[in-house]
Formats: sequence, structure tokens, C-alpha cells
Amino acid sequence: MPEGAPRFRASLDAMDTSPLEAWRDTLQELGVMGLVREPRPEAEPASAPLRRAETPSRSQPPPSTRPVPPPAARYEPPADPIGCPPPEAVLGATSLQALEQAIQGCLKCPLGPGRIRFVFGEGNPSARLMFVGEGPGRDEDLQGRPFVGKAGELLDKMIGAIGLTRAETYIANVVKCRPPDNRTPGPDEARACLGYLRRQIELIQPVVIVTLGATPLRELLGVSEGITRIRGQWRQLELGGRRIPVMPTFHPAYVLRQYTQDVRRAVWQDLKAAKDWIDRPTES
Ligand code: URA
Repeated sequence: MPEGAPRFRASLDAMDTSPLEAWRDTLQELGVMGLVREPRPEAEPASAPLRRAETPSRSQPPPSTRPVPPPAARYEPPADPIGCPPPEAVLGATSLQALEQAIQGCLKCPLGPGRIRFVFGEGNPSARLMFVGEGPGRDEDLQGRPFVGKAGELLDKMIGAIGLTRAETYIANVVKCRPPDNRTPGPDEARACLGYLRRQIELIQPVVIVTLGATPLRELLGVSEGITRIRGQWRQLELGGRRIPVMPTFHPAYVLRQYTQDVRRAVWQDLKAAKDWIDRPTES
């Protein structure tokens, strides 16, 4: 471990997910998508051609004539400017406070009606280092603050290990409302929220962004390679006429699950690179 490397205190015992959920989360963290069970139609439509094996015989009942249920109703967002803040309200917000005010009633995607609290993000409004996670979990939903659960405790330690405090940075997520069961936000949900995050970044003007896990990297930069392959490699976000260096690293929840020296060292290196960048002497 490099000198001064962090010793994150955590254990697998601290996790409150089942092994199966943890495995699913690990796969998703590594960029494996599509772990969604497709609903099976209850019955084939009466008019569908019968497959050979299903040809009814005298001993078999005829195929069901029960109608196929219609696809799940699509979510219809409200048309009012509180439930569906118009782009001009988002782009026209000239402070984080004004932005939060404009979007905190958002119901643009199905995550909105399910939330307890809107988790806007928090920290130093002119932070040089900004973290972007995936979306609020249970604790965040209850408290209305990002990264306040177990993953947040570890994030705080990670920040401390590079000589900063949480309050000196800014912490936000791709989506501002908790996805049910802490699942990865779907593309439509992420897209509905992305404009908010982009405006937040424009207002903060961080020197460096550290993305936590695969989701912010995919949604913010369109990079869909697995995080294991891509972490530690600088990327760039072009936004508002600026190019912001982006350092991808593992999500703290993943670090808690894979609490190996290699993973901890990798995160340390990534955060150290980000810190070195914000500390570098600039030409005046
Ligand atoms: N995980 C995230 O990605 N964000 C949070 O705010 C909490 C947990």
C-alpha cells in the first residue's frame, strides 16, 4: 500500500444486503446490465399459432383463451412546471439554491412519486473537487442528503485520506430520487434527471469530477465500459464551454463488498490523482 494510503474501516458484516443482492450489485457495478427478469406473458394470444409441442390432444386442455394483459401503464408525468420543471427554469437558475428550488418538486420520472425526500446534493458550492454517485439509497431518501449511509461513511474516509473534508467537496448523484430496492436507475430515469446534474456542475465549476461506479460514467460521459477496466483513466466532460477532467473510480458500496487491498489501493490512487490535479500549480 502506498505511504499514507487510507485504511478504510469497514467489514462485510456491516452490509445489510443479502449475498444474492450483493452479487447482483457487484455485477452491476462491473457494468453487467440487463439483470432484470422479463415478465412472462400469462398466456399466448388465442390467435397465436400453436407450436408443435403444444398441439392439443384429446388428453390436453385447449389453449387458454384468457386475454393477454396489456403492457404496464406508462408513467405520465404531470404537465405543470413544479412536477415537470421546464428547461428554462433549470438553465436559468443562477445559483444552486435557485436550482434546487426549481426542481425539488420534480415528478418527471416514476422515481419522483416514490421518494420520501428529494436528494439534491450538498457541499461547498464552489468546490474544486466534486463527487458524482448513482442515486440515493434508503438512508439518503430518509435524510434528504447524499451518501449518509454505510457507503457514505466510507466516502467520508476516502475524502479524509486525501487530506480534505466532506464539506470542502461537493457530492451529488445522477438521480435525485431513490430507485426502488436501490436498483440502478434506468436510462429514462437517468435521462430525466441528467439536466439537473449538468446544471449543478455548471454552477459549481469543479476543477475535477470523481465519478463513483459505472452509472455516472455511463450517464454523464456515455462510457459504457466496465468500471474495472476504466477506473483510474482520466476522461473529460465538456460542459458550458469548459472541459472538466473526470476521474472514474469504484463506488464506495463496491469497495465495502470487495474489501481487498487491491480495490482499496486502486481507489486511493484514483483519489490521489484527483487531489494532485486540483493542487497542481497553475499558470497565472
Ligand atoms: N449511493 C449513491 O450512489 N449515492 C448516494 O447518495 C448513496 C449511496
